[in-house]
Amino acid sequence: MKIITSISEMKAFSAEAKTGGRTIGFVPTMGYLHEGHASLLERAGKENALTVLSIFVNPLQFGPNEDFDRYPRDFERDERVALNHGVDALFYPEVQEMYPSEPSVTMRVNKRVDALCGRTREGHFDGVATVLTKLFHIISPDRVYFGMKDAQQVAVVEGLISDLNFPVELVPCPTVREEDGLAKSSRNVYLSPQERQEAPVLYRSLQEAADLLLEGKNVIHIKEKMIEYLEEHTSGKVDYFEILSYPELEEASAADQKKIIALAVQFKNARLIDNITIIPD
Ligand code: PAJ
Repeated sequence: MKIITSISEMKAFSAEAKTGGRTIGFVPTMGYLHEGHASLLERAGKENALTVLSIFVNPLQFGPNEDFDRYPRDFERDERVALNHGVDALFYPEVQEMYPSEPSVTMRVNKRVDALCGRTREGHFDGVATVLTKLFHIISPDRVYFGMKDAQQVAVVEGLISDLNFPVELVPCPTVREEDGLAKSSRNVYLSPQERQEAPVLYRSLQEAADLLLEGKNVIHIKEKMIEYLEEHTSGKVDYFEILSYPELEEASAADQKKIIALAVQFKNARLIDNITIIPD
């Protein structure tokens, strides 16, 4: 496995792969890898000749009061995970390499950002779109792998790739969970033991909401009931609990092909998100 810290070396690696006619599967991450990330690496490994993993905690997607400085980092452990999952090149640039000075051009996402996390995390998806635009140009992947854990990110990236004609195929992958249902997340380490015990309630509330929705219950009623349920069974504060069309993220209607049920709960030191998508019959 090659560890690459410079943009020019990363570009050279990709150019050589292309000349040899080898496909590149790319998994962008911010590190502190867990089985969720590993599942994306496995999939990329199966579908491509080469797998490129990026680890970069992107300052542009963190708000001033968010957790950029204390985002968990452990490069040595990540390196081992990467090695164990068949990564061919690990791109690990410093902030200075990616943003040597204040960027003169950044991306602005116009659609699919007025709901869910986009509502409170102002500029977050602009930062995601900017770093991915750079990474796509540097790595030139054939396929790029994202987890549905961050379903709004998948919806935004779909727009980015299609509107800006990036020659890359987006591959959404299922959310990997702990045995008790909690979605794996780098931020789970910031839960207190008591919060960790409460956290499976998040997924349970999504499942319950899906059942009620399929039974034909009213969306507003379901949302109220689930917020009540979450506030009763966790010490966290519900940031949102929404049922929307997917991937448009607009008010749900009977005509939707696909719906998303999504939530965010703020615990003391970690804000957790989770979702499920359903196709009503
Ligand atoms: P990060 O939070 O590190 O996530 C990297 C990828 O792993 C994302 O596609 C995310 O959806 C996926 N992932 C996280 N938890 C998962 C789980 N439990 N099951 C399946 N997939 C999971 O998302 C980012 O980084 C950044 O915004 C990034 C795209 C790298 C841009 O900076």
